[in-house]
Amino acid sequence: MSDLIEGYLGKTVERKKSRVPAKLDYIQSATGLFLGLFMWGHMLFVSSILVSKDFMYTITKFFEASFIFDGGEPIIVSAIVLFVFIVFIVHAAMGMRKLPSNFKQYQVIKAHADSMGHEDTKLWFIQAFTGFAMFFLGSVHLYIMMTNADTIGPYGSADRVWSAWMWPLYILLLLAVEFHGTIGLYRLAVKWGWFDGSDPKATRKKLKMYKKALTWFFLILGFATLAAYMKIGYEHKQAGKVGERYTPTAQIMMDYNINSGRVA
Ligand code: HEM
Repeated sequence: MSDLIEGYLGKTVERKKSRVPAKLDYIQSATGLFLGLFMWGHMLFVSSILVSKDFMYTITKFFEASFIFDGGEPIIVSAIVLFVFIVFIVHAAMGMRKLPSNFKQYQVIKAHADSMGHEDTKLWFIQAFTGFAMFFLGSVHLYIMMTNADTIGPYGSADRVWSAWMWPLYILLLLAVEFHGTIGLYRLAVKWGWFDGSDPKATRKKLKMYKKALTWFFLILGFATLAAYMKIGYEHKQAGKVGERYTPTAQIMMDYNINSGRVA
């Protein structure tokens, strides 16, 4: 009954407004913070291919807990992806509440933003657009990672990027995620006043600078990484070896020593 009254009047029988919107805002911030920080880690791990194939292989096997299970267990990666996917969906559901649901609402927001001429308000449009794009782009990537975790590796990933045509999707996803992530973390810091200190205005200026620097850093790193996977994938295809898995140098050396009768 009280839900019914609140539904009609927007207030409870005690004449209080619901606390649910504040709680949903909190969930949106918490999931956004998790995903933003996760993406920094993700980009650093994925970019290990820029160091060497062996290094990327080692990181992949680390996430498969090869220090516990001999050869690694890709199902562990699938479980991590499932968890990230759930956080991603919850975050998207919370974000949907902020999108205009018809043209009139869009017009009001646009007119309001234009009349204010406030840069941070304009950032909201980028958030809404990139967030919407990620509904689709992010879901495709996460589903493939979850169901094909065993193929992650220097050659498996490169084959997916090049031969399985993931590179066009990654270009769009990379742009969307880097803008969305850094703007999101910046807006979180401003919203909750994390680094306000004695002069919040000066802090905001500094935060903006960090935001810009981080966006550039992760975009450059991301595109360099993507180029590396594309090159390896292209060469793998030219060699007619699509689908073949990477054998780490240490393994090749060991096999060589065994075959030639030497003691490693
Ligand atoms: C636990 C979850 C995740 C795992 C295990 C994962 C794993 C990977 C791997 C292995 C690659 C290399 C290419 C490939 O194998 O296809 C990659 C690339 C990429 N991932 Fe993820 N990913 C995850 C979540 C996400 C999320 C949530 C996003 C953004 C919404 C994302 C965005 C990207 C982008 C943009 C690339 C291309 C980056 C580049 O090459 O520079 N990933 N990911």
